[in-house]
Amino acid sequence: MRIGILTSGGDCPGLNAVIRGAVLKGTTAYDLEFVGIRDGWRGALDGDFFPLTRHQVKGLSKVGGTILGTSRTNPYEGPRGGAENLGRTLAQHDIDGMIVIGGEGTLAGANRLRADGLNVLGVPKTIDNDLRATDYSFGFDTAVNIATEAMDRLRTTGDSHRRCMVAEVMGRNVGWIALHAGMAAGAHAILIPEVPMSMDEIVALVESAHDRGRAPLVVVSEGFTLTGMETAYSDKGLDAFNRPRLGGIGEVLAPQIEARTGIETRSTVLGHIQRGGSPSGFDRVLATRLGLAAVDAIVEGHWGQMVALRGTDIVRVPFADALGELNTVPRHRYDEAAALFG
Ligand code: F6P
Repeated sequence: MRIGILTSGGDCPGLNAVIRGAVLKGTTAYDLEFVGIRDGWRGALDGDFFPLTRHQVKGLSKVGGTILGTSRTNPYEGPRGGAENLGRTLAQHDIDGMIVIGGEGTLAGANRLRADGLNVLGVPKTIDNDLRATDYSFGFDTAVNIATEAMDRLRTTGDSHRRCMVAEVMGRNVGWIALHAGMAAGAHAILIPEVPMSMDEIVALVESAHDRGRAPLVVVSEGFTLTGMETAYSDKGLDAFNRPRLGGIGEVLAPQIEARTGIETRSTVLGHIQRGGSPSGFDRVLATRLGLAAVDAIVEGHWGQMVALRGTDIVRVPFADALGELNTVPRHRYDEAAALFG
């Protein structure tokens, strides 16, 4: 069997470890052949393929980004788009099926292609950890580690000046990175998309920390909304999926905190630093196991499913389980963290 592999959507640390896991086991245990598909669905539609051998995945588990490249292309759009065209392109290159590594948008496309008769096997990825079908997605742990380290640094400079430091992290719809990194770094307030808050409440937490002689640390997800805001803050237009590009809420909050409290306040946006560089040990292991499980699933004929983490086991779940509802932060997890605020 000849299998194509693509990575689609925003990159995240661990993508290369999935590719390596799949190619190593697929070639040695099952005699599969692999082709790399360049830049996500864009390469699949254009027939932009290259041989992916065991040699090419050597040492890849520690390497960030994706050797395949990625894009936010919709497989149903454009003159070469659609299941029929794509099926023809794959057949011309003797490709029997694809391993598709992506987030919600990518898996929705994969689900539709499967329904239209193509052989697709999914591997979930997102640093936001917003997919319900998997307990954790690889990339998340690395992002939390990077954000935690950054906040530790913000705290030492904040402490020196007795300033309030606002740290903005990624998290379009869910606040997992903010919750975990904020808790790890001892934040005095964590602001997430699931729990809108008023300026009065934020100011009270900042003042309480400051009154105890601390330099307040406020962690905010990019998707957080102040009470009364209808949508998340965005001043950068739309992305390729026509969603508002987020980022900047930290800069909105900082001057308001300073004006209301009189405490000098600085804001830092961590942005894409959270997605770059080497994956953590946890993410390397999770991503590698998903790659191994993906080829097992293919050999056993489980097209139309994705591999996912449940507890400590890798399981197979239908695409539909990954779609629709997001893996939001449950209220009890937020309240647990909130006991440490202020
Ligand atoms: O979905 C993952 C994510 O990192 C979000 O947290 C963020 O809003 C978005 O991707 C940024 O996307 P881009 O790389 O296109 O700016």
